[in-house]
Amino acid sequence: MTTAFVNGQYLPLAEARVSPMDRGFLFGDGAYEVIPVYSRRAFRLDQHIARLASTLAAMRLHNPHSTAEWQAIVGEIVARNPWPDQSVYLQVTRGADTRRNHAFPGPEVMPTVFLMSEPLLTPSAEQLASGVAAVSAADIRWLRCDLKTVSMLANCLLRQHAIDHGCAETVLFRDSFLTEGAASSIFVCKDGVLLVPPKSHLMLPGITYDVVLELARSHGMKHAVREVLEAEVRSADELWMTSSTKEVLPITALDGRPVGAGTPGPMARQMVAWYQDFKHTVMRNG
Ligand code: PDD
Repeated sequence: MTTAFVNGQYLPLAEARVSPMDRGFLFGDGAYEVIPVYSRRAFRLDQHIARLASTLAAMRLHNPHSTAEWQAIVGEIVARNPWPDQSVYLQVTRGADTRRNHAFPGPEVMPTVFLMSEPLLTPSAEQLASGVAAVSAADIRWLRCDLKTVSMLANCLLRQHAIDHGCAETVLFRDSFLTEGAASSIFVCKDGVLLVPPKSHLMLPGITYDVVLELARSHGMKHAVREVLEAEVRSADELWMTSSTKEVLPITALDGRPVGAGTPGPMARQMVAWYQDFKHTVMRNG
């Protein structure tokens, strides 16, 4: 049975309730995080809590918990759920007012805090061995894609677009430049150099993005953080998607055409190995 957390209370997920007047439900007015947990340790927890704080600040929503409180709540959710490897979902909304009003409610309305956990589903050995297929689409989202909000309709439409085409992800272009995936960061390899767009208001500052760049730096993989043209993506030797749940996953076909040789390339295989090794080292050493 899954244990959830709603506004200070731990309870079975099936018994968790929020009001239909909640602004998360009415307006998509909330922030969220997805935190991977390995062997009951939350990976990069402080970075996830810091990103949540940035989203809440940009939303002008008071952060209901201190870092120490968030650490304790996440720790408790991890401890109360049965799986060693988990995906913890955390959401804060602007709460439930008595009437529907776009403008913010008064200070008497408290934010709604919700957490749940699911078993962590990372890519299968088969997916890692063969890579996954992706399609591309215009990035139809708003201009604050750096905020991790629950207003996710565009991302849902874009991910469903991939599924409708038998693919795992949709790679997004805005004005002929790469932004990211529907729910992942996208890396490109060309002539032995790893390329990724710089953080901006057009993409989510991925926690996995940071880990991958740290690993590239520490192992001396050539890399450049700069704008990436759609044409460079289409002529890439390798493409990867990264996220907290997908980790580092090679994309071996884009819009029905092979990426590079059509199999995971040497840089992807290297980064997947470094990522797994780093993850296990962190989990062993704390
Ligand atoms: N999504 N870009 C978007 C639009 C995302 O939704 C995500 C993650 C990422 C990767 O960020 P990170 O490395 O911090 O997971 C990039 C999560 C996993 C989700 O919505 O389920």
